Amino acid sequence: MKTKTLSIHGLNNKEYSGNKELTPPINQTATFYFDSIEEGEQTFEFENNQYVYSRGRNPNLEELEDKITLLEEGAFAVSFSSGMGAIATLLMSLFKSGDNLLSHNIVYGSSHNFIANILPQYGINTTMLDLRKLDRDMAKGYEVIYLETPANPTLDIIDLRKLREIVGDDTVIIVDNTFATPILQQPLLLGADFVVHSATKYIGGHGDAIGGLVVGKDKEFESILRFGYMCEFGTAMAPFNAWLFNRGLKTLEYRIKGHCQNAMEIAKYLEAHEKVKKVYYPGLPSFEGHLIAEKQMKNFGGIISFEIIEGIRGIGSDEERAITFVNNLKLFKIAVSLGDTESLVEIPAKMTHKGLDIKPSIIRLAVGLEDIEDLIEDIEQALENL
Ligand SMILES: Cc1ncc(COP(=O)(O)O)c(C=O)c1O
Repeated sequence: MKTKTLSIHGLNNKEYSGNKELTPPINQTATFYFDSIEEGEQTFEFENNQYVYSRGRNPNLEELEDKITLLEEGAFAVSFSSGMGAIATLLMSLFKSGDNLLSHNIVYGSSHNFIANILPQYGINTTMLDLRKLDRDMAKGYEVIYLETPANPTLDIIDLRKLREIVGDDTVIIVDNTFATPILQQPLLLGADFVVHSATKYIGGHGDAIGGLVVGKDKEFESILRFGYMCEFGTAMAPFNAWLFNRGLKTLEYRIKGHCQNAMEIAKYLEAHEKVKKVYYPGLPSFEGHLIAEKQMKNFGGIISFEIIEGIRGIGSDEERAITFVNNLKLFKIAVSLGDTESLVEIPAKMTHKGLDIKPSIIRLAVGLEDIEDLIEDIEQALENL
């Protein structure tokens, strides 16, 4: 089946609650009961597939996990309370003290903090490099490689096929696929071992729930991640959130198409504007990663970053120009997060990536699904009023 159908039907003939509802109920229960101790014991021995406790498995979560597994073409998925819950739990499940992690140097702020500052406290050696420049010598000695492509917020594109070729078969590669979603890119088919998502973003699509997902291609690892770590860390997704993500997935492909169309128009508009210095968008031929993005993505996504030129009417510093532009916007809401129907704007150096090595002049747009003419009009007046 094709992705639009899979996003709606998932495993078409699987009954999650047994009542043939078109829209499944929210299984808002902490626990599930047994008819006898023997049945409970068999369940704990994995001799049947009964649900036990929603911190481990729940029908709403399972439906979501089945769908994302199909869409990413993986072997299993586990849902989490947030994208960070997914990332932190997966990383902790893969390491023992003394192991080595290599990460791209530009990643979401909290992922950066977890890798650079928290993992080393547990004896894990972490290195952050520009993976676009990685060669065989630099890649030696790491058990795990972690990256986002496109990366938040500079949209760096990392060639996944080439990365796998450079590091060989024994290194675990984790790709945060939040920006692309499986509609635009399937990292597991390009050499990755695990995909992580902040489902909070495009998968939910409406900015009303926090959640995360891990998809893996080795089915045997599922019970280690789910029962050995997720269950013990308590980073489980809530059933209502899973219900919202299941609903979000149904329209994912249509929404992604709209985000991509709007973003492409805005990127072209910005690139042609005299007050704009640089546009970071993988769909522009002028963008460094464009050719790789063309090879490994089906379209270029809804996030654009850009910088304004120097010396506009005495607004001196990089930072001031970016702040004035953002404050001038009327329709774009100043907010972190992305992937929502509403267009959002932020300055990563001041918000999501505070304290990291990101230029204060970079403005990040999370382009929504409003009419393109209204979005461009808003950007136009914000630039004009600089
Ligand atoms: C690329 C990326 N990964 C992970 C996360 C973390 O996700 P969550 O906020 O759901 O914990 C974010 C959040 O902005 C993100 O942009």
